[in-house]
Parts: sequence; structure tokens; C-alpha cells
Amino acid sequence: MQNFHRGHRLRQFKNLRALFQENSVSLNDIVCPLFVSEKITTPNPVPGMPGIFQIPENNIEHEIDKISSLGIKSVMLFGVSAHKDNTGECSLDKTGILTRIVKKTKTTNSDLVVMADNCFCEFTEHGNCGIVEGDNIQNDETLMLLGRQAVVCAEAGADVICPSGMIDGQVVGIRGALDSNGFKDTPVMAYAAKFASSYYGPFRKAAGVNYKGERKTYQINPANGREALIETLADQQEGADILMIKPGMPYLDVIARLRDRTNLPLAAYQVSGEYAMISLAAEQGALDLDKAIMESMIAFKRAGTDLIVTYFAERIAKLFQSNSLHD
Ligand code: PBG
Ligand code: ZN
Repeated sequence: MQNFHRGHRLRQFKNLRALFQENSVSLNDIVCPLFVSEKITTPNPVPGMPGIFQIPENNIEHEIDKISSLGIKSVMLFGVSAHKDNTGECSLDKTGILTRIVKKTKTTNSDLVVMADNCFCEFTEHGNCGIVEGDNIQNDETLMLLGRQAVVCAEAGADVICPSGMIDGQVVGIRGALDSNGFKDTPVMAYAAKFASSYYGPFRKAAGVNYKGERKTYQINPANGREALIETLADQQEGADILMIKPGMPYLDVIARLRDRTNLPLAAYQVSGEYAMISLAAEQGALDLDKAIMESMIAFKRAGTDLIVTYFAERIAKLFQSNSLHD
């Protein structure tokens, strides 16, 4: 009989399989997003995201203590603002919600890596990611404001600045602003390839973003993989320290292709709609929640991701604690 590949040989029992496992996930890979609101006094469940809440500002200490005691090492902060205007002025203010929560988080646990989302959609009435004229994003006018927002966040103690608006030149603009204000050592994690995706639905409610449309004039067409590589490598050229792809699971091909083209750390954002898909399918009994979560995590690692921003962070940390994962 002709020889054939016996793949079963190395799968026969648990410890044998473990020796040949190529990738693994740990809390070193996980970033936990948090929505902190100045508009509420009790935690507010986010529609479509079972288990996820907007946190009132005065609960932040409690929340950070809880997350830290689970072993989570990093958070990404989104401010939910009561004060919106045309240009997101409150986000440039040293006493605005974003800077207050960065400061509070960092003083609660100085060991935690505090990432700040830098964008304007949470702070503007129109809900776009920058200044608009009518419906049009004013790219270069937005750059200046983004630089100021990054600097106030860094002053408040942010460890990583994360521009998420897909404004052209945002990395070089922010880098320049940080450098000239004494923050040469503050890294920038660029949302380098962010697609105009339908998977952001629940986030807009969670972050209190007043925007119903699609951001197709500034986010990437989901059909375009090569363009995503151009965008991402442009951010590397501009001086980004970490490159992020967003959403995650539908775009693993982009991550894998990028892994072969850059030596910078890569991050993936498993976005709100991905969280909803897995959670709601599990609620319906269609999936085993924990297994589906961990399979999605290992898929990110296999594709070449270093960091994963995921709303499952707390659940994953608890799973690691209960040690129920190893099979
Ligand atoms: C916008 C922003 C978005 C997310 C984070 N920052 C999406 C959007 O374009 O509305 C999405 C995150 C998620 O869905 O979890 N700056
Ligand atoms: Zn935005």
C-alpha cells in the first residue's frame, strides 16, 4: 500500500498533543476595553453584549481593582461623554471625562498598562471621528486636535495612545505632538487598518456615539486586502509602535499577510459585533461559550497577533484562574 501521512500519530493523548501545540494564549496577550461614563450612577448593560456594562465614573476604582486582581495587565479606556459639541472640545480639556478616567485608572493601579482611545466620535454631536464640514471629514484640521487630545491623555498618565479614527497622517501628527510636549517615550498603537465594518454596531451604543451611518469615506472597504497593507505599512513609516487590525476574526487574512511584512508588534481588535456573535450564539445553545472564545483567541495568535483587544478579557482571566481550559 502506498505510504500516506499519519497525522493521528502525534494526537494520540493529551500530553503528546501538548508537545506539538504551536501557539498559546496568556494574559500577556489580552487588553480589556472599558466604557466609563459620566452620565450614569449605576452600571448600565450594553445592548447586544451580554455581560458588558458601561461603568459609572465613580466605580472606576472598584472596577480596576477587580480587573487587576484577575491578573489582567492592560485596559483600553473609552470615555462616554455628557458634553458633546461640534469639535469634541471636552476631550481636549485636562478636566474632561477621558483625562479624568485615565488619571483615576493609573492612580488606582500604576502597574496596569493604560491605553487611551484617541478619537472624536465619542465627544462630538455628529458622532464622526473628526471635525466635519457638512458630512465631510476635515482630515487635516482634525490632525491638530488629535495631537492635543493625545498630549492631554499622556499628561493624565496614559501609557499608550491609540488613535482609532482612520484620519490620514494621525500617527505622524500624534507622534510630533507627543515628542514636542515631552512624551517621546509614549508609544502609539495605530488602528492601522480599520475597515468600514457592520460589526461595530453594539460599540456605538456602548460608547454613546451618535452616528448611524457608515464611515466609508475614511475607513477601508472590507473588500480591499492590499489597500489594508498599504495603510498599515504607512503607519509603520509614520512611526507607529504597534499596528492594529480591526475588526479581528473576519480579517485574519490581513493579519497573516501583514505578519510576513512587518516586524512590529501586531494587535487585533475583536470588536463588539464579534463579541455579540459568539455570546448570543452561546446563549441560544448553539456554541460552548468558553471553547468558542478560546478558539477565537488561538486563531488570532496563529494568524500572527501579539495583542488581542477583547471584551471577553475578564471571562478569559477567570478561565485561566479556574484552570479549566487545558485539555
Ligand atoms: C471609532 C471606534 C469604533 C470602535 C472603536 N472606536 C468603531 C466605529 O467606527 O464606530 C469599534 C469597537 C467595537 O465595535 O468594539 N473610533
Ligand atoms: Zn471614532
